[in-house]
Amino acid sequence: MRMFYQQFLSFFLIIAITLLILGVTFLGLSRSMFYQDTWDLLEDYAYVVRTQAIDVKKSNGTTKIVVDKKRLNIVEEMLSSRHIKIRIYTGKDKILYPSKSKQIINKKRWNELKAGQSIRVKSNSQRFRFKAVDSPKETTSIYVPYLDINGKLLAVVSVGTVMDNIEDNLTDIKRNLLYSFFTAVVLGTIASFILTRYFTNRITRLQKATRQVADGDFDVHITTGHRDELDDLAEDFNLMIEALKESRIEFDRQEERRRNFMTNAAHEMRTPLTTIKGILEGMAYGLFEDEAECKESIDLMRKETSRLIRLVNDNLDYEKSQAGELVLQKENLDASSIIRDVLRQMNDMAQKEGDRFENKLPPVLGVYADHDRFIQIITNIIKNAIQFTDNGVITIRGKKAGNNTIIQISDTGIGMTESQMAKIWDRYYKADQSRKVAKFGESGIGLSIVYQLLKLHKADVNVSSEPGVGTTFTLTFKGQE
Ligand SMILES: Nc1ncnc2c1ncn2[C@@H]1O[C@H](COP(=O)(O)OP(=O)(O)OP(=O)(O)O)[C@@H](O)[C@H]1O
Ligand SMILES: [Mg+2]
Repeated sequence: MRMFYQQFLSFFLIIAITLLILGVTFLGLSRSMFYQDTWDLLEDYAYVVRTQAIDVKKSNGTTKIVVDKKRLNIVEEMLSSRHIKIRIYTGKDKILYPSKSKQIINKKRWNELKAGQSIRVKSNSQRFRFKAVDSPKETTSIYVPYLDINGKLLAVVSVGTVMDNIEDNLTDIKRNLLYSFFTAVVLGTIASFILTRYFTNRITRLQKATRQVADGDFDVHITTGHRDELDDLAEDFNLMIEALKESRIEFDRQEERRRNFMTNAAHEMRTPLTTIKGILEGMAYGLFEDEAECKESIDLMRKETSRLIRLVNDNLDYEKSQAGELVLQKENLDASSIIRDVLRQMNDMAQKEGDRFENKLPPVLGVYADHDRFIQIITNIIKNAIQFTDNGVITIRGKKAGNNTIIQISDTGIGMTESQMAKIWDRYYKADQSRKVAKFGESGIGLSIVYQLLKLHKADVNVSSEPGVGTTFTLTFKGQE
């Protein structure tokens, strides 16, 4: 069943059941109040009859009940408009008044009356109406015992109303109740229809938005009033869309970078591969005659293959660290001696660029790091410094700050703008995309690996740079805990 009908039905049922219960309760209450009032009235009449029309005469030790029929007639006359019937019994089948009546009192009732209890009887005409004639017709009446001072039953006064039945008096109430029931049902139906529509509309709105998102449109926002759980759901939905949108943007960004890298990598690989192919073909056709030329070509091929291997390795390293597969083996090292070795190895490279190293490290500088990865970090940063500095100075400083080790690598190179600096840790990012001539790789992956490695070391990094002035990388390694 659709939600609309479910909701509608439940609202409707609640209204109908509530009204029914209220109606039945009210009717029952009115009925018993009616009976109570009638009995109270009849009791008053019975009292009047007993005091005004019944006399007890004693002669020769016997007690005789005398009824003043004239008075009784007057009383009955007076109450005729109220359809009051009076009977006076001296025995359960002995009727003193009216003389023609044959109505008798059953044994059970007579015993109760003997015990001094009044009896109240409800009209059973309703049952007669439905033809369930299982007992004689009774009017709503009251039987009041008349006892002497010894508690002996002298007579019973019965006053009944043949105002046919109280049910008739209740008919009006029933009719009014029925009218109000139908009015309430109609109004309730309208109200529940509006309420249900309101709820289902809100749900439909959510459903529409979900479909829109499923179709790839993330520009959805549901306005909410923070009123109920549905609003909370809509709020969560908005948050989910925001998250999806962000991951979609991130995905697109990654995809864009991956595409850029593929283009760059293909471009970079093509040059060495073409060179290698050219040399190999030359060799095949015996173009290199003298040995020196041959050696030079083989050297070139070796260099080009190293470049290709480095490109592949760098990417593998990056993927490994991203996947959490790179495990560090940290130990206490002497950063000064390691960096000295790195500088020695890179001296040639620096000289080619007209750069000079200035080593301001203390003789010994303890650092807690993975040996090979520490070298990788330092090498990458120094290589960049050489790459982006022509005829300048590259200064390396280092010091201890408490348990931490701070290493600073500064150059007097081309520097970077703020926006360039913000992106240097991204994979495949190169500030100058047009720099096609690859001096030392230039695939834009070096710093992204440095960043991953520093993260694994839980080390901090800070970069300050000014275009045309130079760049400084400050690394802070934490000591052993
Ligand atoms: N010392 C520096 N001075 C100026 N720019 C720098 C410096 N270090 C890095 N950059 C900028 O950050 C970019 C990213 O550096 P990264 O080391 O990741 O890539 P790359 O050096 O271009 O290529 P790769 O290191 O993979 O061979 C560089 O292309 C450059 O634009
Ligand atoms: Mg680099």
